[in-house]
Amino acid sequence: MRDKQKAVRVGIVGLGTVGGGAFRLLSENADEIARRTGRPIVVSHVGARRDNPQCLTGSVRVSRDVFDVVHDPDIDIIVEVMGGTTTAREVVTQAILQGKHVVTANKALLAEHGNEIFALAEKQGVYVAFEAAVAGGVPIIKVLREGLAANRIEWLAGIINGTGNYIMTEMLEKGRDFYEVLKEAQSLGYAEADPSFDVEGTDAAHKLTILASLAFGIPLQFKKVYTEGITRLTAEDVAYASELGYHIKHLGIARRTQQGIELRVHPTLIPEARLISNVHGVKNAVLVVSHPVGPTLYYGAGAGAGPTASAIVADLVDVARAMAEGAGSRVPHLAFQPDALDDTRVLAMDEVCTAYYLRLQANDRPGVLAEVTRILSQHGISIEAILQKAAHAAGRVPVILLTKVVQEAAMNAAIAEIEALEDILDHVVRIRLENLDA
Ligand code: NDP
Ligand code: HSE
Repeated sequence: MRDKQKAVRVGIVGLGTVGGGAFRLLSENADEIARRTGRPIVVSHVGARRDNPQCLTGSVRVSRDVFDVVHDPDIDIIVEVMGGTTTAREVVTQAILQGKHVVTANKALLAEHGNEIFALAEKQGVYVAFEAAVAGGVPIIKVLREGLAANRIEWLAGIINGTGNYIMTEMLEKGRDFYEVLKEAQSLGYAEADPSFDVEGTDAAHKLTILASLAFGIPLQFKKVYTEGITRLTAEDVAYASELGYHIKHLGIARRTQQGIELRVHPTLIPEARLISNVHGVKNAVLVVSHPVGPTLYYGAGAGAGPTASAIVADLVDVARAMAEGAGSRVPHLAFQPDALDDTRVLAMDEVCTAYYLRLQANDRPGVLAEVTRILSQHGISIEAILQKAAHAAGRVPVILLTKVVQEAAMNAAIAEIEALEDILDHVVRIRLENLDA
């Protein structure tokens, strides 16, 4: 083995929550890491435009211009943890062109520009490792690329945004205010620099893009993900769902069907008995159903300095081991050989088939429900359950319906007709429902 005892030199670009966490972890667990790697991993250069009071860099060289780190000839691996898709893209591209390996937590960058980045890395013979990009400390990338390599993956569904799950849990279990909890998630280091990415579903869509590529061997196609966030969820719907035996979770779902691949992120009713239904707080979980192993579930902290640093450092260990072996890329970046990626179509949302929770506000008059069920039936939609609540003071009756599986296009048409009825007040609330039975 080459260079067994020579330290691997790392440059960290961005010294915020994740960069600071990785810096500290490499020092705290240095001995254990060296025992696993066969040689020490040391941070020898940091790029940060200001100091991080939670991360004392001591004698390590710090540059205010992040490109000084990228161009440092002594660095073997660049850890890109600055975020964003402009400067970060340049940092990663420059690092690859100089023959440096890259470890990144930047799911936005990979979901939007990963196809070119991985192609360049393969050409230059370097690794771009990204375990931290999805589900924080849960090693789901390794699972999909290596652990399940013998399987044909049919579908996966995940709670893949820690901030969103934390907000939903605090609001629903403790009745706290949305913005107060969001602020707390930011101060705990869970949220994205732009927290609308967390609450509007963009971050989960970035992660789902990556998971779907690894699961099905397709190129990264972020723009084709249907995305809905959690900002319109109400405590009322959560309570009604619970009466019917369901929890509402914000899920990313990727499914192979005969017509094409579903890629969607939205709030989802899930039977409360499912394990994934009981994943709360900042925890993430990904349920993967594949043949022949069947369902497997991966759970753990989805955000924060320690869990994300765990994933970053695990990637550093992997890359350092591979450097010592002098081997070529051990595992393809997107799990499948680059020339074996296929172009299976991604379905538009109105082609997707799922079940639904509908909540209507109806005038308290005879025959209204009959009208609603007639419209549903005309569109081939079967009802699974109906819950009619006591009339509000103004004579408005909340009606909750659960439907069987139907194509979204039929549901869109039915909702438009129901909303046009004189006795239906307000918009119909629609939340998709998945039984997640394997
Ligand atoms: P932070 O905002 O805490 O840290 C980002 C750091 O990068 C800051 O130090 C920031 O400096 C620096 N930075 C950003 N742009 C530049 C620039 N142009 N030049 C120099 N420095 C720059 O973010 P996180 O650590 O939370 O996230 C980093 C990455 O990790 C993101 O891609 C994020 O999506 C990902 N990630 C985050 C997780 C988490 O739990 N926080 C989990 C998994 C992935 P300054 O402070 O001056 O702005
Ligand atoms: N903002 C992200 C989240 C960080 O809350 O899940 C982890 O990717």
